[in-house]
Amino acid sequence: MDTPDTPLFVRACLNQPVERTPVWFMRQAGRALPEYREKRGTGSILETVKDPELAAELTLQPVTRYKVDAAVLFSDIMVPLNAIGVELDILANVGPVIFEPFTDISHLSRIRRYEPEEDAPYVQEAIRLLVKTADVPVLGFAGGPFTMASYLVEGKPTRTFAKIKALMHQNQDFWFLLMDKLSELVVASLSAQISAGAAAIQLFDSWAGYLSRYDYEKFVWPFSKKIFAELSKLPGPKVPKIHFGVGTGAIIDLMASAGADVISVDWRLPIDKVRQMIGRDIVIQGNLDPAICLAPFPVVAEEAGRILKAALVAKEAETDSAKNDKVSGHIFNLGHGVLPETDPDTLSGLVEFVREKTGHK
Ligand code: CP3
Repeated sequence: MDTPDTPLFVRACLNQPVERTPVWFMRQAGRALPEYREKRGTGSILETVKDPELAAELTLQPVTRYKVDAAVLFSDIMVPLNAIGVELDILANVGPVIFEPFTDISHLSRIRRYEPEEDAPYVQEAIRLLVKTADVPVLGFAGGPFTMASYLVEGKPTRTFAKIKALMHQNQDFWFLLMDKLSELVVASLSAQISAGAAAIQLFDSWAGYLSRYDYEKFVWPFSKKIFAELSKLPGPKVPKIHFGVGTGAIIDLMASAGADVISVDWRLPIDKVRQMIGRDIVIQGNLDPAICLAPFPVVAEEAGRILKAALVAKEAETDSAKNDKVSGHIFNLGHGVLPETDPDTLSGLVEFVREKTGHK
């Protein structure tokens, strides 16, 4: 189904022919942009997202500035939980903080069913506005159940994930019920975003790579698989699904078998190596280290060039699609979010570099 109406980014996600490699950046809307700092105000991001016009405007800022190929919705993975009444805040330079962390199975009654159109209509409204105004596809997203659970259980960002790891082993009834509830919330959230017009979705299971392979397979993977399977049942044209985590080298083959169309990897493994580990035909997204973007542009360009070469090697070595040289099997991105201290001109230059190296405008 190679229709010219299907946007480049969506075609790339589905491993269809493309005229060049698409590019966007995780956390492209944010503090690196002066126009963001000016418009965003000082309140919690949880309040900012409740204004759909503003959320749409913040979503479009990086699209206008950087000329990226996808508009990732300005929202946060904690928005649905906040919308169903879980008391939390997102503190600047810290991250999500839960007022009463979840430590006992009785606390799980605080996670009630998420009804997106009643609980957070502003999310879908922002997408509807964007679909009307943006000339690139809108990417919806949700947090992976493990990543959201890590905040709920730890109460704040953690380096060790000690509480949550102990809990999943020690209190499995609690764990599996929590994951069931969060998976249901994710499916409800992503389905609503797709109905509102999101052309693709990304599951941010950012912290899954902190788990052992055994723990990931037993305690997390079945839920990711279920989420992707539920989304695949939605009526209408196929909406591509992207699966992301940081430091996932030890579990990448498992993640790749959970049912997404695209696997998004951080900078630790080169893309050709990832391809050997996950087999054919899943598209790879990534994987420039966001810290490299703080270096002078020639360094950034050299590293980006190395990534594009690795993507080419990956394609030639493994995919069936390699027979079709119009298929790239790659979406250029960073390995994690844009750092606030990044010079926006570096990112504009990077977009131009990827466009020039991989095809024609
Ligand atoms: O361009 C985009 O990607 C914007 C949309 C977006 C935000 N959060 C906005 C945001 C997305 C996709 C997220 C996802 C998100 N939120 C994740 C998964 C992605 C990842 O980075 O791993 C996670 C783990 C969160 C939780 C969260 N929210 C953290 C850790 C932080 C950082 C705290 C800080 O100040 O450094 C946030 C806050 C946040 N979410 C900001 C933005 C633009 C920055 C602060 C602000 O402007 O209020």
